[in-house]
Amino acid sequence: MSSTAPPLTIPTSESDASQLEEEHVHKVYDKIAINFSDTRYKPWPRVVDFLRSFPCGSLILDVGCGNGKYMNISNDLMMIGCDRSEGLLKICRDRYFQVFLCDCMNIPVPTNMFDGAICIAVLHHISTEERRLSALKEIVRLLKPGGQALITVWAKEQELDNKKSTYITKNAKACPVHGNTETKNELIIHTPRTEFQQSDCLVPWNKPTEKLLRYYHVFIKDELEHILSHISRVKIINSYNDDGNWCIIFMKIA
Ligand SMILES: C[S@@+](CC[C@H](N)C(=O)[O-])C[C@H]1O[C@@H](n2cnc3c(N)ncnc32)[C@H](O)[C@@H]1O
Repeated sequence: MSSTAPPLTIPTSESDASQLEEEHVHKVYDKIAINFSDTRYKPWPRVVDFLRSFPCGSLILDVGCGNGKYMNISNDLMMIGCDRSEGLLKICRDRYFQVFLCDCMNIPVPTNMFDGAICIAVLHHISTEERRLSALKEIVRLLKPGGQALITVWAKEQELDNKKSTYITKNAKACPVHGNTETKNELIIHTPRTEFQQSDCLVPWNKPTEKLLRYYHVFIKDELEHILSHISRVKIINSYNDDGNWCIIFMKIA
């Protein structure tokens, strides 16, 4: 972002939201795909536990699969992935994973098709509550009745019960440079590895050649539950915080 550019704002219309995500999510992931993939190889244990809880032969969709780090955690599952980043999908295809390009708000698969779904660290890149609701509705739609999904999002609260998340504790010298509290509707630039000052922000990704900003909406406690309460046929099975991420497992009921 040039120093003369006006500050970006939290979108209030569908077209602003889609433009913000195009510039500050999709284009960024395509630019950082290789670098991002090199740093994302460790599956989160609770996601692995969730996937391994399905019976042999279950069909699972990984929505926003990134480099496919969950796609081969079990030989017993049939995993398919989808993502908006061609760069990350290419990495998946090079690994012989079954993936396709789509937006998580419009997933071109039949209704009631999947035994399970995961959507890990994706919804926090969607910039309005309506759009986050659409993405969750899509996941509910594609599940079979009785099917279960695990959703995780980055939490605004990076300290719970006096315990700071790894994201914060990894910062040797925490020094918030902005000190800004909730501002009008401006998107502030978050200081990496510090507490979030605002739910909607831009998080820098430093490429050797340029500084890129990814849009994030960090979720507060119970926000996922609140959005899911607008969708019928959903039964929450478990919700928890996993080291700075809010996570929810739900079932589609008949
Ligand atoms: C933080 S990465 C997480 C990737 C993977 N789920 C993981 O756990 O490693 C976020 C991913 O969401 C994808 N993404 C962001 N917005 C999306 C959208 N609207 N539709 C589909 N994928 C999206 C990005 O391309 C990226 O692969």
